[in-house]
Amino acid sequence: MQKLLIKNIKTLVQVREEAIEKVSGKDMAVLPCIHNAWLAVDNGLIADFGSMDDFPGITDWKNLQVIDATGKIVMPCYVDSHTHIVYAGNREQEFVDRINGLSYEEIFKRGGGILNSAARVANATEDQLFDEAMIRLKEVIAQGTGAIEIKSGYGLSTEAELKMLRVIKRIKDLNLLPVKATFLGAHALPQVYKENKAGYLDLIIEEMLPKIAEEKLADYIDIFCERGYFTAEETERVLLAGKKYGLKGKVHAEQMSHSGGIQTGVKCGALSVDHLEYCNDEDIEALKNSATMPTVLPGAAFFVSLPLPPARKMIDAGLPVAFASDFNPGTSPSGNMNFMMSLGCVQYKMTPEETINACTINAAYAMDVVHEVGSITPGKKANFFITKEISSYAFIPYSFGSNLIETVFLNGVEQTS
Ligand code: NIG
Ligand code: FE
Repeated sequence: MQKLLIKNIKTLVQVREEAIEKVSGKDMAVLPCIHNAWLAVDNGLIADFGSMDDFPGITDWKNLQVIDATGKIVMPCYVDSHTHIVYAGNREQEFVDRINGLSYEEIFKRGGGILNSAARVANATEDQLFDEAMIRLKEVIAQGTGAIEIKSGYGLSTEAELKMLRVIKRIKDLNLLPVKATFLGAHALPQVYKENKAGYLDLIIEEMLPKIAEEKLADYIDIFCERGYFTAEETERVLLAGKKYGLKGKVHAEQMSHSGGIQTGVKCGALSVDHLEYCNDEDIEALKNSATMPTVLPGAAFFVSLPLPPARKMIDAGLPVAFASDFNPGTSPSGNMNFMMSLGCVQYKMTPEETINACTINAAYAMDVVHEVGSITPGKKANFFITKEISSYAFIPYSFGSNLIETVFLNGVEQTS
């Protein structure tokens, strides 16, 4: 495979000589960079980097592609640890309904929301779902995403959940970027089980899980722990059932009410708890003594006008915070991590350094790919992007809505959109 050298980089961002797991508290404000740098890629991996002042003589110029990045910034790709990009069609009518006064909860009670997407997924073929998801995936790659977690959860029947997970597996098997699959059968109660929640939970645990495990279709298990969806007790039951099949837990926690998802997630050793709008002081305490990554989804809080999760308070309490897009048709129809960073800076009063750490290294921890991506570290995948000529990395969250990414590399290969 071709060797690649990027030289004259204005700033090489998120350089970690030694691999680290995550950054917490005050360390989130630290973003190691090299100004006027070079970066070498060999065989799809980051080989070496340094300052142009100590640029080594290159003896082997054969097969070496050289890129001049004068005036440009190079960053590791964003890691998006929470998405629902496998879905059919869109829900812009519900968006308009919300503008006209209906709440997310009211739309769900009328059979819309997650149930609207479930009806569309039921009628879609695997190929259709794959094609639609690939359009979204290519879009977010062009926006700088270089690793992604994708959930099921719009199936809500054994057949349709398996269909979604098989689509995710097809995406994973492309080996384009690291992909993790999450089984989210407990996303909502399907219409046919409206009066029989216990029956649906049994179906998840006794029928769906064994089949998913047998086909090795999931890495993680997730549940929507929320008023009107699933309780903390049900969350514990589902997470423990997943654990028996080797699936680590994730929880949609405290998004629209305080429902106990964070503490249950921590208790069950969840890899991450996500959303956190109604996270309180006891939850922050519980997270402090855990390995669970608190993950804020700024796009969903923005799009549904929810109260803001206490990200600043969590960081000030010494916690790590990760960001993810939650790309989905109902609460965050965007997977643009550049915009998530703008929201982080403007709405959550996080510095550009903190938001970049939240979108790279900490997000990589939240989907267990920190050994592969999330920083410029020798041996990690060469998944990075080169910006247009810009003044500094703070210009990325500052210029919300602009596209400042010029070229994206995955496994050292330039992506063309
Ligand atoms: O992460 N909160 C639950 N699930 C999704 C939204 C699902 C939908 O509305 O389609 C979320 O926000
Ligand atoms: Fe979600």
